[in-house]
Amino acid sequence: MDYETPLFFHVMQYADAADRDVIDMVSGNPDWEPPEALRNGLREYADLEPDRFQYAPSEGLRELREEIAARRGVDAEQVVVTNGAGEANYLSMARALERDSGDEILLTDPVYPYYPGKTTMLGGIQRFVATDDEGYLDPAAVRAAASDETAAIVVNTPNNPTGAVYPAETMHELVAVAEEYDAILISDEVYDHYGLSGAFASALETDSAHRIVTNAFSKSMAITGFRVGYAIFPPELVADAKSRHMLVNVATTRPGQYAVLQALRETGPEYYERNRKRLRGRVETFTDALEAAGAEYTTPSGSFYVMARFEGYPGTLANVERLIDEAGVAGMPGEAFGDARSEWLRFALVTPRVEEAAERLAAYFD
Ligand SMILES: Cc1ncc(COP(=O)(O)O)c(C=O)c1O
Repeated sequence: MDYETPLFFHVMQYADAADRDVIDMVSGNPDWEPPEALRNGLREYADLEPDRFQYAPSEGLRELREEIAARRGVDAEQVVVTNGAGEANYLSMARALERDSGDEILLTDPVYPYYPGKTTMLGGIQRFVATDDEGYLDPAAVRAAASDETAAIVVNTPNNPTGAVYPAETMHELVAVAEEYDAILISDEVYDHYGLSGAFASALETDSAHRIVTNAFSKSMAITGFRVGYAIFPPELVADAKSRHMLVNVATTRPGQYAVLQALRETGPEYYERNRKRLRGRVETFTDALEAAGAEYTTPSGSFYVMARFEGYPGTLANVERLIDEAGVAGMPGEAFGDARSEWLRFALVTPRVEEAAERLAAYFD
């Protein structure tokens, strides 16, 4: 079976092995501090009794599930704490396919590459709906692509790689399409704290037995290495998701859950606003330099990413490797995100060196 292994780790390894200084704009690993309370929680954890070093409840620490549930306005029973948003998406897609209401998973083009990979791995059939040039999804196009074969519609807002932040009306309509076709809308909201100019709207705003919301603290708390995320299921879908989570993982990290809970309780909104402000500054610096270099580029309304297009330099893996070797800047090939952006490169603004990176790109393409 072709598991369509995403290219991220390959490009990161290539950049690491390069024989020169390379500015890493490949991965979505924030380079800023986690909340202070998270560090304190971890320190505290080291001194707890040995019983806290044993299995956490499989579905997640009760206090963490309750804290998430209270913040998201759902019942704690609906919350499963997962190994990041990655596992939350996997559980959700598996659950949608198990319902015997179709084999097709509707995805967007451009797409976050782990979704097609997971679809194939789970035995589903991929079907793509094109977004517009800015990355926005027309629910009418999703409705036109939907059928009795549709098991799930998977979307991501704020979006990786386009930076689109879907309006509340879109989210509402997407839930309606899922209901019409007895499918599940899976809304991956892992960048929810990074609405930069667009107002983020969660699929949770539309109550329905046909939507699952996935999320994680990986990006919002700058802890992609911790592996603490969650999925919110409709009551009738949650029990089997918990079983699958238990069979695959037993449980997820207990110290990580403890520290995240501490950070959720003690971190004020200024922490998140500071991170957004930093990103807005980087977007401006990077896009100004791309403008001066005569490149085409996107200006994200949310998430961490800018896509750029350089004349005569398509977004292939070979070109990304050449850019690492010859310009010292590592990005992701646009072709990794589907057909629609194969001419483009994606740059993650999670380095303080965005200005230098843009100057290197400008000099290289001069
Ligand atoms: C859209 C999207 N979903 C999920 C993930 C994975 O999140 P996690 O690290 O919490 O598994 C990423 C990571 O970059 C992402 O961009």
